[in-house]
Amino acid sequence: MNILLMGPPGAGKGTQAAELVKEFRIPHISTGDMFRAAVKEGTPLGKQAKACMDEGKLVPDEVTIGIVRERLAKDDCKNGFILDGFPRTVEQADALGTILKDLGLPAAKAIHINVPKGDLIARAVGRRICKSCGATYHTKFNPPKTEGKCDECGGELFQRADDTAETMEKRLSVYEASTKPLIDYYEKAGAYVAVDGRQAIDKVTKDLIATLKAK
Ligand code: AP5
Ligand code: MG
Ligand code: ZN
Repeated sequence: MNILLMGPPGAGKGTQAAELVKEFRIPHISTGDMFRAAVKEGTPLGKQAKACMDEGKLVPDEVTIGIVRERLAKDDCKNGFILDGFPRTVEQADALGTILKDLGLPAAKAIHINVPKGDLIARAVGRRICKSCGATYHTKFNPPKTEGKCDECGGELFQRADDTAETMEKRLSVYEASTKPLIDYYEKAGAYVAVDGRQAIDKVTKDLIATLKAK
């Protein structure tokens, strides 16, 4: 199953992808996570990505398409994958179609997590992530048992540099301008479905799994 997990910043893509990995046993590929790993390593890609991410802008298409092409060519993607945060532009969506054809993989289905704009800033600003294992929490909506510590591994929790109200405004306007048109794009291709992302986390997971299994 080749899944494109789509939705605006803070919609719950990363949170839900972690659950879908458990259900479908296929890799979770987040371009945002790949860029953050490159930033941590201090590679040239990381330096370029950091400048864009800190401003809430997109990393240039040719760079992003290149890393996704490399990742999808790995053996663990043969039985399926969950792409989170890619594609984000029509150019990336076109490129993905070509990559899948080149690799002899089936076309992907887009599943969109719908959350109204008004909820998204609070979700991002309250998000906390484990430094060790990457588990995602929220100070209000999904707090860890002990403040500042990961339930899974005891690791320290941190806040993403781009999770400020100001940068979120920019990320949301970039989403409206560049990524939202992909709803139409995949709808026209008959490969689009949406779930209600305002529900509790476990309810969204149930809907996603049911929708994906019904396809
Ligand atoms: P990326 O890391 O992909 O960020 P994003 O798309 O802005 O999405 P987020 O990770 O912020 O949100 P999410 O949907 O994963 O939500 P989460 O599950 O964490 O990209 C970052 C940057 O990298 C971009 O700005 C860009 O610069 C660059 N980039 C990445 N991909 C690119 C591409 N393809 N092209 C170009 N540039 C690219 O949940 C959020 C919070 O809400 C959490 O605290 C969570 O606990 C909580 N929450 C989740 N679900 C619920 C719920 N149902 N109810 C209540 N709270 C919930
Ligand atoms: Mg994410
Ligand atoms: Zn952890």
